[in-house]
Amino acid sequence: MDFQAIYKEKLISIPDAVGLLQSGQTLAAAMCASEPVGLLSELENHAERLQDVHLFLCLPMRKYGFYTKPEMAGHFFLENWFYGAPDRKVHGLGMVSYIPNNLHRAGTDRIHAGGLNVFWGTATPPNDRGIMSLSTSLVFERQLIDAADVVVLEINPNLPWTLGDTQIYLQDVDYIVENDTPLVELPSIEPAEVETAIGNFIADLIKDGATLQLGIGGIPNAIAQSLYDKHDLGIHTEMFTDGMVDLFEAGVVNGRHKTLWPNKMVGAFALGTQKLYDFVHNNVAVEFQQGKVTNDPYVMGKNYNMVSINTALQVDVLGQVCSQSIGSRHFSGTGGQLDTHRGAQISPGGRGIIALRSTVKNGAISTIVPQLSPGAEVTVPSQDVDTVVTEFGVAELRGRCLKDRTEALINIAHPDFRSWLREEVEKLGIVPKLVVPGADLA
Ligand code: COA
Repeated sequence: MDFQAIYKEKLISIPDAVGLLQSGQTLAAAMCASEPVGLLSELENHAERLQDVHLFLCLPMRKYGFYTKPEMAGHFFLENWFYGAPDRKVHGLGMVSYIPNNLHRAGTDRIHAGGLNVFWGTATPPNDRGIMSLSTSLVFERQLIDAADVVVLEINPNLPWTLGDTQIYLQDVDYIVENDTPLVELPSIEPAEVETAIGNFIADLIKDGATLQLGIGGIPNAIAQSLYDKHDLGIHTEMFTDGMVDLFEAGVVNGRHKTLWPNKMVGAFALGTQKLYDFVHNNVAVEFQQGKVTNDPYVMGKNYNMVSINTALQVDVLGQVCSQSIGSRHFSGTGGQLDTHRGAQISPGGRGIIALRSTVKNGAISTIVPQLSPGAEVTVPSQDVDTVVTEFGVAELRGRCLKDRTEALINIAHPDFRSWLREEVEKLGIVPKLVVPGADLA
């Protein structure tokens, strides 16, 4: 086949590709560093002729005009699997709404919910066999490419060629556009003292030879830096991060003892700096698999000694974890937190860790609370919770009663809040009081 001729046949301009969209249609797009920046930026220029187009995105990386400008109301509506900073800001405009989801089912549930007219993704330029790589994200992209009526891929030479389940053939794509935008970067931040203390407690819980998942946020990235004394660690994660590259380059990560995909780092998407994107490029040690595979708890649980490390905003004394809202103000999303927390507990020798600072806002607010704030969304229910870590220590909650959980969590709360927590727990009757023999229980 003459792949160059096929490529030329499918190539159209970005405005022409957006011009294919019709009022009332549904459209999903690839996420994070694989976001189709050219197509999404162009969308607002077509508002005049488009009404009621629903877009499905996950953690949009840029403040696109189509959902952040009030005059776009009625033209576009964003259904969002995971909020970032722009979404939080524009939530009040009424043009964005969160889709509750567990990441490994995001694509499957979208297909279940109804038809998908258009998918916009990104890919590397094709090789001489007409094969492209879907590059930095396979979370739901492949599933939605298969489900959509029309598929448009934005070809970007800056995208790394990643290996695993990432190949896509020119014949599977309806249209191609070209754009060479630099990839979005998430800078690495030096860990604060509190994060290092949390990292050190977690390092004590990780055996040599364990397989790790590290979640999104400042704390999981800081934890990687507490693991330089470990040996033969493996990676089975949702998100590849810069910290994992550092651990690989230091010889700490080699996947030697992994029981699933031995010797490979496995994940569904990469978000970090250019160092990470260079690392995953054409790297046979890095295996991209679909989110429905990496994050399926029963797949993740096939790794022995699987440890998941995620972070949260609030934990109540029952062990209910809220990682996605501050009270009723939606903040981010469940992502793969519950998937991976469960997967780690299915794993023989595994452990699900939730790590968080004991206080926020300069010590004014305790993150360990008697009750979640009204309206808070539960990310990990109390029946799934395993281990919670703060800078004051480790609370092992799995299989333990509420009385013991309460005590364990109060012991890792900030000392300034411990007596308040005890009083509140008693007021709420969460912990049974000691019954005096002979007391009247009527
Ligand atoms: N009450 C009030 N405000 C709180 C709070 C609380 N209990 N906890 C945190 N905050 C504030 C912080 O002070 C901070 O505000 P600031 O930006 O004004 O300083 C803000 O909320 C963000 O907190 P921070 O701890 O810095 O967030 P983060 O960027 O490290 O992300 C999560 C933490 C929990 C939001 C993030 O990890 C997440 O969304 N997790 C769910 C998904 C997930 O874990 N997926 C895993 C697979 S990748």
